[in-house]
Amino acid sequence: MKKLTIGLFGFGTVGEGLYQVLQKSKTVDAQIKRICVKNPNKKRRVSADLLTTNAEDILGDPEINLVVELIDNAEDAYSIVKTAMQRGKSVVSGNKAMLAVHMAEMIELQKQHGVALLYDASACGSIPVIRNLEEYYDNDLLTSVTGILNGSSNYILTKIFQDGETYEKALKEAQDLGFAESNPSFDVDGFDSLFKLIILTVHAFGVIIPPEDVFNFGISNLSDFDINYAKEKGRKIKLVARVGKVDDDTITLYVMPRMLTPNLYIYSVEEEYNGVVIRGQFYDKQFMFGKGAGALPTGSSVLSDITARFHDYRYEYKKYNSPQAPKYTTDNLIKVYLRYRNVNDFEHFRFAEISEKYTSNDYCYVVGKIRLSNLLSIKSLLPKLDIFLAAMS
Ligand code: HSE
Repeated sequence: MKKLTIGLFGFGTVGEGLYQVLQKSKTVDAQIKRICVKNPNKKRRVSADLLTTNAEDILGDPEINLVVELIDNAEDAYSIVKTAMQRGKSVVSGNKAMLAVHMAEMIELQKQHGVALLYDASACGSIPVIRNLEEYYDNDLLTSVTGILNGSSNYILTKIFQDGETYEKALKEAQDLGFAESNPSFDVDGFDSLFKLIILTVHAFGVIIPPEDVFNFGISNLSDFDINYAKEKGRKIKLVARVGKVDDDTITLYVMPRMLTPNLYIYSVEEEYNGVVIRGQFYDKQFMFGKGAGALPTGSSVLSDITARFHDYRYEYKKYNSPQAPKYTTDNLIKVYLRYRNVNDFEHFRFAEISEKYTSNDYCYVVGKIRLSNLLSIKSLLPKLDIFLAAMS
């Protein structure tokens, strides 16, 4: 009978969540032999005998046949995952930043060394979206994947919209509850959603797009004016990531806040929950919903990757390996709401068409259509401006 002997890297929110989930699960014969941590003196609810600070205690142990990487630092994660695979060990990783940046090499390493790398836990917490994209949606009917992929920003927006909390208080709660990244800018500025979207795009459409080539804008510039605007129009603001076909051979991607109307499924996704709407040519739309952050939901997802390895499951990257992968474009128009204060800030935006305009001494806004390529060209500038931008559904 097969046995998984696990070497775990990281014992933060998710690592500890996995440890707890694994204690409760009898599904597979899997045991954590070693846990590699940065700081051995931190108080942890685990036997000190399991802990090490030396990565070689895991990577060099021939008995360990599965490495589970749940650390924060993307560069360290890259080196751990790469070395583990080069040494013939399969890996489960939750590191979306590392995966999004190094995906092509990660696929190559799996091929070269005959090992598997599973990472369903890296996107949408407890929702099994990657494996579904890989297995069920492995044909060309899929037209778009749209979702709330970041639990922290959704928690913050829920608290602001439902409970009238301040942004700062809601962010602090998301941090205290263990939802936020150690650098919460990743959550609120849309980078976490961006990395997850890059990973989903590999499995949904077979294309690897560098994160810097995709537009992302987050919620940290949100003001009371924007909240009131949304409420007056009967809408909610959510941070949305989207990849979709523009035509048969072309896809487009973005991460940005969206003013959602109540008829949309993701309108009702609150707190740290994530929601993903998958659209296809003949099945219209399908909806997946579940907790997207937190120790136990994400720990459960890591367990699912571990049990998948127990059954020798691996991603086949069917669409990535197919010769018909679509091209990526940003040459498409998006309808947006732009709130600004200074005309100088407004001048960075080249609207193709404006349908609504409001000016006052305090705030101005326009609603209109703008090319995604224009937004992408100013993406690093936007967080520094006194503006807020949201797609209009
Ligand atoms: N910080 C992430 C989130 C954790 O809030 O969604 C789960 O990936």
